[in-house]
Amino acid sequence: MEPILSHLSFQIKENAIDSFMDEIKTPVTDPVFFSVGLPNKKLIPKKQLQAMTNMLFENDPSNLYNYCSSKGYDPFISTISAKETIAENFIMVTNGNTQGFDLVCRMLLNQKDSFAMEAYTYSIAHSAIHQYNLNAIEIPLQQDGMDMDVLEASIKKVPIKALYIIPNAQNPTGITISLEKRKRLIDLAYQYNFIIIEDDPYRELLFDERIPSLFELDPLKEKVIYLYSFSKIIAPAMRTGFILAHPVYIQKLEQFKQIQDACTSPINQMIINNLISSYVWPDLLEQQKNFYENRKKITQHFLINMHKKYGWLSSDPAGGLFYWVNVLDGDVLEWMKYAAASGVIFVPGKAFSLNDVTNTKIRICYAYCNDDEMMKGFERLEESFVKWKNNVQ
Ligand SMILES: Cc1ncc(COP(=O)(O)O)c(C=O)c1O
Repeated sequence: MEPILSHLSFQIKENAIDSFMDEIKTPVTDPVFFSVGLPNKKLIPKKQLQAMTNMLFENDPSNLYNYCSSKGYDPFISTISAKETIAENFIMVTNGNTQGFDLVCRMLLNQKDSFAMEAYTYSIAHSAIHQYNLNAIEIPLQQDGMDMDVLEASIKKVPIKALYIIPNAQNPTGITISLEKRKRLIDLAYQYNFIIIEDDPYRELLFDERIPSLFELDPLKEKVIYLYSFSKIIAPAMRTGFILAHPVYIQKLEQFKQIQDACTSPINQMIINNLISSYVWPDLLEQQKNFYENRKKITQHFLINMHKKYGWLSSDPAGGLFYWVNVLDGDVLEWMKYAAASGVIFVPGKAFSLNDVTNTKIRICYAYCNDDEMMKGFERLEESFVKWKNNVQ
C-alpha cells in the first residue's frame, strides 16, 4: 500500500531507545532488564491508589465522569499551586512530561530552529529534532552539568531558540547541574533570548538536598518552562504531570492541549490529588529515596569491581534510577548481542546522542528489577562482557 502521509510523518522517527530494544531478542526465559527506566514495582503505592480509587467511586462526586478544564482539575491545581508556591495561572496539568514536552515544542518551534541539549540526553529531545527538522546542538556534560563555556561560545556563533535540560539525576548520566551553572544558564537565557525547557521527573529521588530549580531561579518567570511528572514516584500508568510557565505561555499551551486531548483524565487527577495531599505521602517519598540510594550502593560495589578488573568507568549518580558506564573500547552494540544471549539487557549510549561516535557507553537502570534479578544481571553482564572481549581479540 502507498500510504497518504504528511511531511511531518516522513520526518518523525521511532524513539531511539525503543528502536534499539526492538532489535534485541533473548533466548533466555528469565532475562534481566537493566534497560527499562521504570520505578521498582515494590514502590508503587498500590494500596493507597486502591483505597483512593475506592473512596472516589463510593463518594461519587457529580463531576466524576465529566471532562475538566484543559488546564486541569481545579482542586489539583490548587494543591500544585500550594506545593510549588506559585500562582494557579502558572500551572497546566499534562499527561506526563512526554506530553508536556510535545506541547511546548508545538508552541515554540519552527522548522530549522536551533535547539540545544545535553550530550547525552533523553531521546525525547532527538524525537523533536526529527519531527520539527531542527538544527540540533549538543553541548557536552561535565560532572556538575552542561559545559556553560561551550554553550555560550556555541550561542555566539549560532543563536538558539530553546534549550532542553534534565537538571536533576539526569537521564542517562545521573548528573545534577550545580547551582552556579543553573544561575549562569538563566543569565544566558536572558542575555541571548532563548527558552529553557526544564524536564524534572527525578527531583524527588535525589539522595542529597535539592537545589532550586531553574524555574524557581528565573527572576521574571519568562525564560523557563518547567515540566514535572508523577511517573517515577507514583506510576507511569497514571499519565499525569504538570507544566509551570508564565501565564502567557500557559494560555497558549492550553489551546494546544484543547485540540490534543481536551484534558488529562480527571479521575487520575483526583486520585493523585488525594494521594499527594495525604499524610502518608512524605513517608512514601522517603522510602523511595532510601530504596534507590541502597540500589545505587549495590550497583556501585559491582562497578568498582568491574573498574578494578576491566577498567570500566562509571558516573556517580546524584539520585534517580541510572548508572552511566563507559567500557572504554569496542562497540557496545556488539556486546549487546552477547548480553542478550546471556539474558541481560541494557541501553547503548547511542540511544542518548545524535553523534555518539565512541560507542563505548551504556545505561544501566538499577531501579526496576527485583533483588535476585539484579545480582543475576550483574553476573550476566560480566560473563557476556568477557565472552565478547575474548571473541573480539
Ligand atoms: C527525562 C525524562 N523525561 C520524560 C520522561 C517521560 O516521562 P512521562 O512518563 O512523564 O511522560 C522520562 C522517562 O523516562 C525521562 O527520563
